[in-house]
Amino acid sequence: MSTSIPVVRPYAVQHKALLNWVDQIAAKTRPDQIVWCDGSQAEFDRLCQKMVEAGTLKRLNAARRPNSYLAWSDPSDVARVEDRTFVCSEQQADAGPNNNWIAPAEMRATLDGLFDGCMQGRTLYVVPFSMGPLGSPISQIGVELSDSPYVVVNMRMMTRMGQAVVERLGQDGPFVPCVHTVGAPLSKGQQDVAWPCNATKYIVHFPETREIWSYGSGYGGNALLGKKCFALRIASTMGRREASAGSTGWLAEHMLILGVQAPWGRKYHVAAAFPSACGKTNFAMLIPPKGLDDNGWKITTIGDDIAWIKPDGAGRLRAINPEAGYFGVAPGTNEKTNYNCMASLKENVIFTNVALTDEGDVWWEGMTETPPAHCLDWQGRDWTPELAKAEGRKAAHPNARFTVAATQNPVIDEAWDDPAGVPIDAFIFGGRRSTTVPLVTEARSWEEGVYMAATMGSETTAAAAGQQGVVRRDPFAMLPFCGYNMADYFGHWLSLGDKLASSGAVLPKIYCVNWFRTDANGKFVWPGFGENARVLKWMLQRIEGKASGQEHLLGVSPRYADLDWSGLNFSAEQFETISAMDLAAWQQEFDLHEELFGRLAHRLPPVLRDIKSRLHDALTQKLAA
Ligand code: GTP
Ligand code: SPV
Ligand code: MN
Repeated sequence: MSTSIPVVRPYAVQHKALLNWVDQIAAKTRPDQIVWCDGSQAEFDRLCQKMVEAGTLKRLNAARRPNSYLAWSDPSDVARVEDRTFVCSEQQADAGPNNNWIAPAEMRATLDGLFDGCMQGRTLYVVPFSMGPLGSPISQIGVELSDSPYVVVNMRMMTRMGQAVVERLGQDGPFVPCVHTVGAPLSKGQQDVAWPCNATKYIVHFPETREIWSYGSGYGGNALLGKKCFALRIASTMGRREASAGSTGWLAEHMLILGVQAPWGRKYHVAAAFPSACGKTNFAMLIPPKGLDDNGWKITTIGDDIAWIKPDGAGRLRAINPEAGYFGVAPGTNEKTNYNCMASLKENVIFTNVALTDEGDVWWEGMTETPPAHCLDWQGRDWTPELAKAEGRKAAHPNARFTVAATQNPVIDEAWDDPAGVPIDAFIFGGRRSTTVPLVTEARSWEEGVYMAATMGSETTAAAAGQQGVVRRDPFAMLPFCGYNMADYFGHWLSLGDKLASSGAVLPKIYCVNWFRTDANGKFVWPGFGENARVLKWMLQRIEGKASGQEHLLGVSPRYADLDWSGLNFSAEQFETISAMDLAAWQQEFDLHEELFGRLAHRLPPVLRDIKSRLHDALTQKLAA
């Protein structure tokens, strides 16, 4: 050790480059001590106890919610900060119009200043983690250096974390270096706050050198660097870079992965991309309604947020979930909408920004039909249903979350951590659209599927800081997460499909869905949640060639009679309101596609332009007729 900073390291480390890097970052950030995390339960408990004493965590009533904690963040630090997120590739064109870009040298100079002494008065935790099962050839290792104990305990649930990862690295194994600070150094004797953070925030990626630097936030995707920063932004660039004449490369996607056992005896696997807070966790755990084939369906979860997808030797796309836990949206979750999720949350949970009840348990909007008569809201203020009415004040922040180990999910798939992954039969893409986009459409080809996913729009949610409910293009639900030029990303999907098809492989079918169309009163028309299984059934029947539909402008959609309605009262008129194609609205929608293609024009694959012209011409003809 070349620094004089005290080090706690309960195990041997053979990896010189890792040791040197930790030393180097410590010399710059100047923490009071360095602690290498082993990933044990004892370490987890110790850190939680420390955070309870510091006021960062509240221990929940052990009789109601055993071994669980609640964190309230600073009110300014509640979601991902997309406008403070940067992809600093050498060439701006490689980051693309979809990413904020600053020249690497300039960004390094900025970070140099920000990280200088940024951990003073704090502990630097060394958090070794594996995305994917430890030791699997598909997995990737990262090491996060963080001054936030909240990050450490969350990373332990969200990834395979600790000593075993360092052992796996051996003397010279590759790892992605991730540096995180809340950006709140403490001077001697200065009292800490419950949730330290900084008004200045930088979430920075250097794709060429595979580095991640995060400054100023302690929240979710800004701070748990294995998740969006590594498993999506950096991994997406890795997957594309590995594509060459002889290789398809691979995909890192904002997708849930589920297993579905059909009553006819076959098991399928589906991967679905919905933007943040648009239903992935819910879909990944859904319970098909009783009326549907006498409950002959069974859905199991492989992942709820991220999928890494690679072709196997036979050209079949196989997906793994690189994570080991769920960092899910709390509001709206209840026994009816997501029973399995509620069952996962019975114990061993870290809640963030939900309300604290007088019994020492948690509550959030939508958790129970009747709200508690009194609780403390996510900012610790008195909250009653009357105050909520009078002031429009929410008890839980709309982006309040839970962190829980995947193994607590009662319907976890038996292959959820199989390094070989599961074979994908269908891809689903869906946005949150109150108008225009029909319930479900099957793409006529891989290319048209890529077109639909590429041009998908969605209304913004509380998962990211900024205005909510505004329709924006969110290609593949990857707008905030693609680590390189989105036009190149489209090209990667197209060429992967090309290569697999020409090798004789059967490609997954591609579907687009929208659960969120509203009526004149702004209410969701489609019951959603478990009832989404009816749409899933139609898709799987289509794969078997056993369901009909009607071809329209964009692809094939079911008519009312093509869906199974047993056990649900949903009229043909209601179905019409969520599946009708309003051609005038689609005329405007194509203008938005054009706008997106205009922004991405520089490297846009020509085939997408061709599809756009073809579809748009067909629409113009229909409108004229
Ligand atoms: P991230 O973790 O941010 O990536 O989000 P996610 O895609 O996993 O979203 P999640 O499943 O947590 O759902 C977000 C919100 O949408 C919750 O409040 C859900 O209750 C609600 N939601 C999920 N599925 C449906 C649905 O089918 N219909 C309706 N109306 N709401 C839904
Ligand atoms: C998302 O915003 O898509 C999330 C939550 O899954 S976070 O980890 O904060 O990115
Ligand atoms: Mn997500």
